Amino acid sequence: MDKKTLPFKRYTVTSALPYANGPLHIGHLAGAYIPADIFVRFLRLNSKDVVYVCGSDEHGAAITIKAKKEGTTPRAIIDQYHAQIKASFEQFGISFDIYHRTSEQIHHELSQEFFLNLYEKGEFVEQVSEQYYDEEFHQFLADRYIVGTCPNCKNEGAYGDQCEKCGTSLNPTDLINPISTLSGKPPVLRETKHWYLPLDKYQPWLEKWLLEGKKDVLKPNVYGQCRSWLKSGLQPRSMTRDLDWGVDVPLEEAKGKKLYVWLDAPIGYISATKQWALDTGGDWEKYWKQQADPAENACLIHFIGKDNIVFHCITFPSILHAHGDYILPENVPANEFLNLEGDKLSTSRNHAVWLHEYLDDFPGKQDELRYVLTSILPETADSEFTWRDFQARVNNELVAIFGNFVNRVLVLSHKYFDGKVMPVKNLLDEDRFALSELGRHAGLIAEAVREFRFREGLAQFMNVARLGNKYLADAEPWKLIKTDEERVGAVLNVGLQIAANLAVMAQPFLPHTAKRMFEMLNFASRDWTSAGNGQLLEAGHQLDAPQLLFEKITDEQVEAQLSRLSKAKESMANASNQVAEAKDNIGFEDFIKVDIRAGKILAAEKVAKTKKLLKLTIDTGVDQRTVVSGIAEFFSPEEIVGRQVSILVNLEPREIKGILSQGMILMAEDTNGRLDFVAPQSEVQPGAVIR
Ligand code: MF3
Ligand code: ZN
Repeated sequence: MDKKTLPFKRYTVTSALPYANGPLHIGHLAGAYIPADIFVRFLRLNSKDVVYVCGSDEHGAAITIKAKKEGTTPRAIIDQYHAQIKASFEQFGISFDIYHRTSEQIHHELSQEFFLNLYEKGEFVEQVSEQYYDEEFHQFLADRYIVGTCPNCKNEGAYGDQCEKCGTSLNPTDLINPISTLSGKPPVLRETKHWYLPLDKYQPWLEKWLLEGKKDVLKPNVYGQCRSWLKSGLQPRSMTRDLDWGVDVPLEEAKGKKLYVWLDAPIGYISATKQWALDTGGDWEKYWKQQADPAENACLIHFIGKDNIVFHCITFPSILHAHGDYILPENVPANEFLNLEGDKLSTSRNHAVWLHEYLDDFPGKQDELRYVLTSILPETADSEFTWRDFQARVNNELVAIFGNFVNRVLVLSHKYFDGKVMPVKNLLDEDRFALSELGRHAGLIAEAVREFRFREGLAQFMNVARLGNKYLADAEPWKLIKTDEERVGAVLNVGLQIAANLAVMAQPFLPHTAKRMFEMLNFASRDWTSAGNGQLLEAGHQLDAPQLLFEKITDEQVEAQLSRLSKAKESMANASNQVAEAKDNIGFEDFIKVDIRAGKILAAEKVAKTKKLLKLTIDTGVDQRTVVSGIAEFFSPEEIVGRQVSILVNLEPREIKGILSQGMILMAEDTNGRLDFVAPQSEVQPGAVIR
């Protein structure tokens, strides 16, 4: 895209539709949402006609597998997480024009329309082939239902449709050592018919459109991935699935089959725009369809994470191209991955900073997280979030530089001039320099944002705050006030113009903070044409009371977050513990020394001042005796009276908490530490020998 200007008048901006199978974490925000939101806010500030759409991706194996895991229905899963995800986005100020969902009828209809359009054009290759099938679960195994070793990078956890490690798109039959994720067993092959998108046929077109046409447009990380896939040659890709959750394939002979989730999901961008147009009385086609005059075409930009590149640069454009009526993406500014405290973010291992938990722990501090994540966006390479770095950036940058400057200017203005902006009779060199720097920085920020270099844009924004701080520190109005009140008025005027500029320039990055600044400065928000203007506040203008913009993050807060992460790690480690190691052999003569009997619990009570111990009275057949057993965390006294047990009767008696324990109840303990009784399956006489 043109570097100096925004050449299009209309923009269609999308962020990847998150799967509605779990809450959002910081990796989501840093991948596809914060960058898009900054870009969109910037476009709106520049009076561009823009629609920004997103929604929940509610089909595919991501949803059905989660439902199975939780013993519930896909519908229950998507309803729960759609609501939660939508709320998180709202709270962080991600300013979608619509946050839609792919389970809506309007989306099903549009997806089917797309399929039929291509079907009727004869684009699909129909093919009966052998596909993997799980005989135990009576299901074909596509996408995430099957894992195996990636033929490209040898990652052992590659899915049937994609290796998330190297990004390669796969077919289940490409996997080495495939295993069903349902039964955990190797699958068998069975015949089934599917409809394939002939990516091989589009390859020459893709080479021209993408490799030639977008060489200087795409980010190098995106371009490189595309080039290497095209180099290895594209294969036809099935657009249908043997699943029972998703959009129905609109063909009589395909009854019971669904559309491939990666066919329907990106169409979700379009159906969301359609719904938005219905809601607002707009025209969705302006944002998606080719216009009679190509100069009227919208500029389509997809913000995504790097695991989605193949679908947005190869598959979806091929579908749009085959359809023929639609515009193609101008750019796909994909981000790399964000790591957390030295480790990959992981939903399944619960190694994440969840947005809803962050908001519980740091209420009202959405912009602090936006700021830190924008500072470390994985724009060109993977990057890392740590809580120490979060604290340092908030305390040393937001509090000490930006917040401090704004606060000082406002407090001094109230102290010396009752919150009135004073006139400037004549500008000194240092004033002129500071004011001219505003314009230069506005240009630098704009250029960076236009080029998707959001880290750089934010850094230049902070340089404006630094400039303000330095200006005040050099001018020392608190000293000057004793001798030259008029000059102090001028200094604070210049300081306030800088603060007003910060409010304008903060809007794309820190929308909550910008809003508070406009309140404090008592003026209405301004668009980007005001950025760099050194006369935003007129002499005589009345300011509102100052509020502190940011506060420090304490060591305790950081430690609480770190300990939450290490607890999550610990509990995962326990859960994945191997069974206890095998012991050394013993002789039969040792074994027969052990006297184990069937027994019955006659009475049970908690041992006072302990959490784990129960005092049991056992009928061993030989006698009645007392045993102290560490099972209170798993069994209440009431529920176990009358129960059969196995008891080791010839264990040396031992005093536990002042009670003489005569023997031991045998329990099975799993790798999570869960206990269960080991006892005869049917009622036997107490005293029966166990061996
Ligand atoms: N749900 C997918 C993911 O989380 C992204 C879908 S993007 C869309 O990886 F283009 F399909 F919408
Ligand atoms: Zn791989």
